This record gives sequence, structure tokens and C-alpha cells, in this order.
Amino acid sequence: MDVKAPLGTDDILPEQAALWQRAEAAARALFARYGYGEIRTPCFESTRLFVRSIGEATDIVEKEMYTFGEGEDSLTLRPEATAPVVRAYLEHNLHKSKSFQKLYYIGPMFRRERPQAGRKRQFHQIGVEAIGATDPLLDAEVIALACHLFDELAIRGYRVRLNAIGTPTSRGGYRDLIKAELSQQSEGLCPDCRRRLDRNVFRTLDCKNPGCIAITRRLPPILAHLPEGERAHFRRVADALRSAQVPFDEDPYLVRGFDYYTGVVFEVTHGALGAQDALCGGGRYDNLIADLGGPPLGAVGFAIGVERLLMAVQAAAQPVEPQPLDLYIVTMGEAARRAAFSYLAALRRAGIAADTDYEARSLKAQMRTADKLRARFVTVLGDNELASGSLKLKHMATGAETEVCGVEGILRAIREHSGQGAGGLELNP
Ligand code: HAM
Repeated sequence: MDVKAPLGTDDILPEQAALWQRAEAAARALFARYGYGEIRTPCFESTRLFVRSIGEATDIVEKEMYTFGEGEDSLTLRPEATAPVVRAYLEHNLHKSKSFQKLYYIGPMFRRERPQAGRKRQFHQIGVEAIGATDPLLDAEVIALACHLFDELAIRGYRVRLNAIGTPTSRGGYRDLIKAELSQQSEGLCPDCRRRLDRNVFRTLDCKNPGCIAITRRLPPILAHLPEGERAHFRRVADALRSAQVPFDEDPYLVRGFDYYTGVVFEVTHGALGAQDALCGGGRYDNLIADLGGPPLGAVGFAIGVERLLMAVQAAAQPVEPQPLDLYIVTMGEAARRAAFSYLAALRRAGIAADTDYEARSLKAQMRTADKLRARFVTVLGDNELASGSLKLKHMATGAETEVCGVEGILRAIREHSGQGAGGLELNP
């Protein structure tokens, strides 16, 4: 059978999974420190949710959604999680118990994009949504949190870009202005951007075509065209980031691919990622909760692409060592294999990482495996040991051997050794 994983999807094998677990554990620990609780929503939602929130004239809704079913019953694999989180927040009346909620999620997202390095059709996001406040300090805290996670994972050389894009109302004047300017130079724009002039003129600012970049970079920056209240919000976010020592660049041409953003937006890029260099994107979406039928509450959040995050971690050249094994039991013969099985059951329940051979291989082959698994202790179990009831536990780093009896004896020896500071094993009481 010649069946492969679908285009744009990846299998995550145990060796890579160790890196994933490390990133996810760092995120969970940090999010808890910042007061975020986890939320898990379904991988598919009503199509209407995404059309309504992301916007009909966006690339995602126009051509990248995996949608099945018709009309009211139409469902879509989630291309992002902000709208689903707000949907769940409202559906479960979270705003009635405590309107301000800090929520985080980790999980797969689906976009039918043209796959390339760092661009997948199933990818994963680690994201946060702080719902229920409009304080600019919260925008800054959310950005600082993303950077804190990159720092925890020893990622160097990331760059934060910051802009404000206003609300659909407050950016109306700027939209008309750039539409008029760009219409006069439309022959210099790519066919996609010419189409965007009418559909969604702000997306022209995001085009990677050099001809379009040359034209759009001559447009006036949006910030100067927003109302004073929104400019003051932006300044407060920038000041708070400076006070938290989070480096950032103002980028007047930064726009985002979703219609729900209403104010400060940001992206974090990293040089090791190639053409798809966005590690993280986010911003404020103060209209979305009301648009989805809730009260008028402000919100801000971000999502980090996990595949890209791990590319950046690996660029920092920090190999993640797999968890070493505490004990490897080498067995000689069928009776020893059965005895090892019961030893392992008890040891693992006592918190010891232990393993054995399942292929009845030679002593030499089993010793090689113990070495490969970086076992701290090795014991050989054969007819003599079964008859005497005692085992020799060999500490591989020093070669020292300890004679022990039964599970209790093994546990005591490993514990004593860890108590001396070697390995630092923590056992369950
Ligand atoms: P986004 O910018 O579309 O924002 O995605 C966030 C991150 O997900 C990107 O910076 C990138 O690292 C990763 N990503 C996006 N598409 C792909 C892909 N096809 N393959 C691999 N990685 C990808 C959002 O999704 C918003 N919901 C973020 C947000 C949360 N805004 C407010 N709250």
C-alpha cells in the first residue's frame, strides 16, 4: 500500500516529540505564572463563525478553509483559534461569572495553503487570549509574554514589529486615501493587489512582490491618520514595552490577515525561518466579542506557530537530550524475562524510568541498547540471580556495583545514589 501523510502535514516522531514537549511545558508553566488557564475547543466549528470573524474578503476565508457540509450545517476545520475561544467564552457565559479571563490553547490548525518550508496545511499554535479589558498595559503584557517564552526557550535574534491599524470605522479615511493613491498606480501592482484594491486594500501592504512593496512603502503611515485616542493607546503600549525592556520596532506597514483586529497589532519574525519568517502574530480585537453576540468587551491575544518556534529553537543549537533511563534490566532466558516484567511493573509505579529487552537478544546486544538509552544503572538477570534472589546493580558512570535484594533493594540503591547528587532523580514517596 503506497499511502503517505497528506501534503502539508507532518508526523511527529518520538525524537522530535521531546522538543515539542519541552516547548509546550515551558509555555504551560509561563502561562500559569501570568494567570492564564487552558481552554480546549473542537478542531472544527460552524463555517459561519470563521466567515463572520476572520472576514469574507480574507485569503483564509476565500481560499484556505477545509470546509464540508452545506449551508447552515457547513463545518470548517479551524484555521485559527481566536474566534473559537471567543465563541466558547460566550457560549459558556464566562463573561457572566468573571468578565476578564485569560485563556490559552495549544493545538492543531488547518489551512489549505501551498505547502513550503515552515508553511503547513496542518500546523500547531500555542496562543493566548486575554478577554474583557481594553487597558494598553494588557497589550504590552501579552507581547512581553510571547517574548518571555522565546527567551525561556533560548531563542535569539527574534524581532517584534508593532503597529496600530484602527477599527473599521476609524481607518475608513485612511482606506479611502490609500485606495485612491494605489488606483493611480495600479499598473505597477501585481494582479492579486489589483484585485485587492476593491476587495481589501489593506492586504496590498502585506504583499511580498517587490513592485508592490516599492509602491506601498511610499504611502503615508496609518498611525497619523487614526484618532488621537487610538494613537495614545499605541504610545502607551510602546512605553510599557520599553519599561519592561522588550525591544520592538514600529512598523507602519504591518497589517494582519484577519478582519477582527481593531487596534494594536504585532508580529514577531525570526531570521532562521526563511520566507515564512513569522513566528508569532497577534493584536487587539475589541469588536469581536460584540460581533459574535456578546457584550462590548475588549480583548487582545497572540498565536505562535509551533513548527516555526521549534525551527527557531533548533537554530539556537540546543539539542534536547532524551530523558535518560534510570535502570536497564538485561535478561538471560525466559524465566528471567518473566521476572524482569514484574520488577519493571513495580519499579515504574515507584517512579523509576526502567526498561528491558523484548526480543530475547544476546547479552552484548542488550548492553549496547542500555548504553544507547543512557541507562544510569544496569543489572543482569539470569538463572543465578533468580536462584539467589540478589542482583548486582552497576552504576554505569563509575562502574561501581551494588548487591541488592528485590524491588525494595533496587529502589533503595537508586535513591541513595540520587541522594548523593548524581543524576538528581526524584522518586515518588
Ligand atoms: P496568524 O498570524 O495567522 O494569527 O498565525 C499565528 C502564527 O501561526 C504565525 O505567526 C505562524 O507562526 C503560524 N502559522 C500560520 N499559518 C501557518 C502555516 N500554514 N504553517 C505553519 N505555521 C503557520 C492567528 O492565527 C491569530 N489567531 C493570532 C491571534 C490570537 N490574534 C489574536 N489572538
